[in-house]
Amino acid sequence: MRKNIVAGNWKMNNSLQEGLTLAKDLQKALNGKTVNCDVIVCTPFIHLASIAPELTSIGLGAQNCADKVSGAYTGEVSAAMIASTGAKYVIIGHSERRAYYGETNAILKEKVLLALANGLTPIFCIGEVLAERESGSQNAVVEKQIRESLFDLSVADFGKIVLAYEPVWAIGTGKTATSAQAQEMHAFIRKTVEAKYGKQAAEDVSILYGGSCNAGNAAELFANPDVDGGLIGGASLSVEKFLPIVEAF
Ligand code: PGA
Repeated sequence: MRKNIVAGNWKMNNSLQEGLTLAKDLQKALNGKTVNCDVIVCTPFIHLASIAPELTSIGLGAQNCADKVSGAYTGEVSAAMIASTGAKYVIIGHSERRAYYGETNAILKEKVLLALANGLTPIFCIGEVLAERESGSQNAVVEKQIRESLFDLSVADFGKIVLAYEPVWAIGTGKTATSAQAQEMHAFIRKTVEAKYGKQAAEDVSILYGGSCNAGNAAELFANPDVDGGLIGGASLSVEKFLPIVEAF
């Protein structure tokens, strides 16, 4: 059975002290509460080791990892290093990494393999830009991203992946995909997975929606049969904004 997941993506926000406070406050707010989803926060690399001991029910993740095992790659952080902090997740293929740092489907494939090899759960992001949506090629774009980065995995390894559909035109813009647009794409993604890995794998994969998801629209988005939660950027930066999204399930 697939899981409902609400994951915060802090992006490049919060000093270490601010991040620690936010993580502790969020954990405190969740203590003693029953929620119907897994809650994850994906923080900057340097926060991971300090935040890990503060979290009990919240999962911890990074926002990226290197496409190399180790060695002379100045400034990079490996999947093994991330795992050594206690983090269990890593966002891979976020559209900001694809757009600003030239991450291709081939590079992302290497990152996924290294994340899995180190016991991390990849939260693998896919999604089209506005021009692709306007020309009606969004399904082809998303299918290619999945196929080129993930479809060499065994069915067992594919089963360890969480997918996040994030239409690039909806990220940080306040312009959310409609609930119907989200459901339509999520159903297409599930069908794509089914064609490759079969019905069970398609049923089991969690597919999160991301892009201006907030307290006001989360419940409607999550009510769709193929939307299994959210990857939350801006609204993950305060307990007041993030908690109602968690509680939307
Ligand atoms: P947003 O970002 O919620 O600020 O639109 C989502 C994301 O990029 O993961």
